Amino acid sequence: MDMNYKTIKLAVAGVALTLVFASLSSCGVRDENTPGVEFMPDMYRSPSVENYGTYVIDGDTLYSAMLPVKGTIARNYLPYTYENSAAGYEAAGLNLKTPLDMAHRDIFEKDGEVLYGKFCIHCHGASGAGDGKVGLKLPGPPPAYDGALKDLSEGKIFHSITYGKNSMGPHSSQLSVEERWKLVCYVQKLQGKKEPVDSTKQVAAVATPTTAGEHSSGGHH
Ligand code: HEC
Repeated sequence: MDMNYKTIKLAVAGVALTLVFASLSSCGVRDENTPGVEFMPDMYRSPSVENYGTYVIDGDTLYSAMLPVKGTIARNYLPYTYENSAAGYEAAGLNLKTPLDMAHRDIFEKDGEVLYGKFCIHCHGASGAGDGKVGLKLPGPPPAYDGALKDLSEGKIFHSITYGKNSMGPHSSQLSVEERWKLVCYVQKLQGKKEPVDSTKQVAAVATPTTAGEHSSGGHH
C-alpha cells in the first residue's frame, strides 16, 4: 500500500514536471523567429515609438518622422548637387565657390578652428600636417595641408569634407553646409593662404550656375 502511494506520487510529479517543461520550451512554436513563451513581453517589445513607423495609439494614428514626399525639398535645405564621383569632384573643384561673405573671413576662420578641433584634429593634427594621433595610425596618414594639399581648391575641400575621401569618412551628416564652409576657411588658413580665392575665378563661377549660387541665398543671415 505504502509503495503504491509513493508510485502514484512520483507519477503525478513526473507528469507535472513534463507539463512545466513542455510549456517552457519553444519546441511547439512553428515560427523559428518567435522567442516562444514570453514572461515579460515589455522587456522584449518596447512600447516606445520608433522612427519611420505608423502607430495606432488609443485609436489615433500617429506618424513618427515621416519621410518627405518624393520630389520635395525642405525649407532652408539645399541639396548638394555634385555627385560623389571623380567627375563630381572635378566639377566641384571648378565651379563650387563659398557662399559665405568673405568680408567676415576672420570670424569664419575662428568658428572653423573650433569645429576643426572637434572633428578633424585627431586625424589631421593641429597644424594640418597629417600627424594627428588617429591620422598616424591610418594606412595612409592625411597629406599636409601646406604640402601636398597646398593648392587644393575650396570646391574640392568642401566636396571631400562632404563625401569623405578614402579612409576619411563623410561629414555631411555631422556638419551643416555653413559649418563645412567655415572649415574650408580654416583649412585654407592651414594651407598658408591668407587671401580667399582670386576674384577672376569668382567671376567665372557667376557665369556657371551651380549650387554655390543657391547656397548663397541661405548663407547670409
Ligand atoms: C579618420 C581620420 C580623418 C578625419 C576625422 C578627417 N580626415 Fe580629412 N583626410 C583624412 C585622410 C586619410 C585624407 C587623405 C585621403 C586621401 O586622399 O586618400 C584626408 C583628406 C582630407 C582633405 C583633402 C581631400 C582631397 O580632396 O584631397 C581635406 C581637405 C580634409 N581631409 C579635410 C578634413 C576636415 C576639414 C576634417 C574635419 C571635418 C577631416 N578632414 C576629418 C583623414 C581624416
